[in-house]
Amino acid sequence: MKARMPRAVTTGVVVRSLRPTDRDDVQSLHERMDQHDAYLRFFGARPTHLGDLAASLCRQDPGHCALGAYIGGVLVGVANYVSPVHQLDNDSPLVEFALVVDHNYQSHGIGTMLLTRLVDAARAHGIGRMTAEVLAQNTVMLEVIRERGWAHALRRDGTTLHLDLDLDEDAQADGPSALPRPVVM
Ligand SMILES: CC(C)(COP(=O)(O)OP(=O)(O)OC[C@H]1O[C@@H](n2cnc3c(N)ncnc32)[C@H](O)[C@@H]1OP(=O)(O)O)[C@@H](O)C(=O)NCCC(=O)NCCS
Repeated sequence: MKARMPRAVTTGVVVRSLRPTDRDDVQSLHERMDQHDAYLRFFGARPTHLGDLAASLCRQDPGHCALGAYIGGVLVGVANYVSPVHQLDNDSPLVEFALVVDHNYQSHGIGTMLLTRLVDAARAHGIGRMTAEVLAQNTVMLEVIRERGWAHALRRDGTTLHLDLDLDEDAQADGPSALPRPVVM
């Protein structure tokens, strides 16, 4: 199955592109993360300077894209990608992505929704490949990836799995609905 409907959805969730003015919301979301979620996201302790992290997530330029999921005006999840500098001139650039959902709102389909929208945004911006690093113990994130039909793009290296996804191949496997289309954000 390529695209699934999350089990418990996401009614009332607004997903939009993050802007520099969203920095405080992004910082607050990361401050609320528990130690375990922070470990899964950062592979260690949460960064000390969360204000800097939040500012960098809210940057809007060709090398950065971040989407936020809001419920009732509260930011409950962020999906972002970053393009390594040397990739920007590439015809089919590669980006690295990551996700985080507020612990109280996990397993309601928000992570899946954000990832789907991030892939749409990447395609709309001409991105060719999306990569991510996921700890082998991160069963939830790996389930999100497998449910999207991306198990073939995972490669294990010790305690980490690398995802290296070719978006063109994925679009062909998904059919015409996955071809690049305008993204309203
Ligand atoms: C990974 C993360 C972003 C997923 O967000 P989410 O909103 O919980 O994800 P979803 O609800 O869309 O999907 C979770 C799916 O994982 C599976 N799942 C849920 N709990 C699980 C568990 N304990 N073990 C295994 N699989 C599980 C289910 O298939 C579930 O889908 P379902 O609800 O349709 O049955 C979120 O858990 C998170 O922020 N984790 C901490 C940070 C992190 O790990 N980031 C990823 C680094 S790249």
